[in-house]
Amino acid sequence: PYPLYAELRRTPVLHEEEDGPYLISSYYDIEALLHDPRISSDATNLAAAGADGPGGPEETGGLPPSFLRLDPPEHDRLRRIANTGFGPPHRPRRIEGMRGAMREIVTELIDGFGDARRVDLVDQFAYPFPVTVICRLLGVPREDEPTFRTWVDPLVASLDPEKRPGGGQEAEYRQSAQEARMRLGMYLSGLVEERAREPRDDLLSDLVNSRGPDGAMTMMEVLSTSVLLLIAGHETTVNLITNGMLTLLRHPEVLGRLRADPGLSVPVVEELLRYEPPVQLVPQRTCITDIEVRGVTIPKGSRIWLMLAAGNRDPERFEDPDRFDPDRRDIRHLGFGSGIHSCFGAPLARLETQIALSELARRLENPRLVEDPPPYRENAVLRGPRHLDVAFDGLR
Ligand code: HEM
Repeated sequence: PYPLYAELRRTPVLHEEEDGPYLISSYYDIEALLHDPRISSDATNLAAAGADGPGGPEETGGLPPSFLRLDPPEHDRLRRIANTGFGPPHRPRRIEGMRGAMREIVTELIDGFGDARRVDLVDQFAYPFPVTVICRLLGVPREDEPTFRTWVDPLVASLDPEKRPGGGQEAEYRQSAQEARMRLGMYLSGLVEERAREPRDDLLSDLVNSRGPDGAMTMMEVLSTSVLLLIAGHETTVNLITNGMLTLLRHPEVLGRLRADPGLSVPVVEELLRYEPPVQLVPQRTCITDIEVRGVTIPKGSRIWLMLAAGNRDPERFEDPDRFDPDRRDIRHLGFGSGIHSCFGAPLARLETQIALSELARRLENPRLVEDPPPYRENAVLRGPRHLDVAFDGLR
């Protein structure tokens, strides 16, 4: 898509069809609009703007909209409460506290390759990793993890246009996603009730027992926040890990340096978020009044697509933008968005990917790509390989 983005950047505000979205592709415009209070993320505004399918309001299955699809002040209240469990002052503790568990999960997954000399890093590694981490973080008991995943998988799959059957099976498919959502909701509400009676050291306990000035979340709010974390944090992290391994295998010099120095995973992950961001664009915005961008008036109620991945390769912002270079001094990318909706899970995603990539680099002996390029998912919003077959000579 990157040559296409270069093309798009030539028209900073692109509007091709009368009822279609306005595409914004240069770094500084995207950044400014993500901070502009005249641009709304509210699900009702999106629906009113006629957005449907990708870029439309998510199916909430009866739950109230999550804070991803709310504007201030509701957005801020819910995000602040979620932060009491996730972020400052607990962030270092809760996320850092996951470091050991993450290493353990990664080690188990890599050991699971056994005697194989070829694996699909999507199915056998990247896919199961983040969902297991989120389970532990929320406080899902280990013995429930397998059942829990049977409800999460269809939910995550329902976001994937490729897995969506056409024609007559559509209704059946929706039904099964709906049912998974319901079972997940029922299971989580049971767990939340337990945590309300008897708090433990986990995120669900924090959400339901928060005592700050914002009060605690209602049961419905806890449920929609948990589902948001599960969905927003899954496929994105899978893609960052697989885009990451793919990029490293194409840059063996960087892979070699990472093997020798796991600390390099910090700038490697930041540069990956610029160079191959899993979320390529943010299509869920409308403007609540007329706004002017580079001399173009965007009328009230229009949909706006912010092309993050195009901004990340904008030569006005980054020198030699098409080069993968973890030694860049200034990697302020748009991979996690920006402004009030900037990624809530960023510290978690960073740590997960740093551990995953440095361990893969350390343990796979002489890894190489079986197919380059690998098959990609057909999804304009989330970019990542569907499979990533890697051959290697053994495990260290
Ligand atoms: C928001 C990317 C991982 C939770 C966002 C946004 C982006 C993003 C671009 C902004 C959306 C917008 O402006 O509308 C990513 C990427 C990830 C990742 C690339 C992995 C590499 C995670 C994880 C979690 C998470 C692991 C949670 C466990 C969220 C939430 C929001 C969000 C809750 C909404 C924030 C708000 O509306 O205030 N993410 N994300 N993300 N992300 Fe992530």
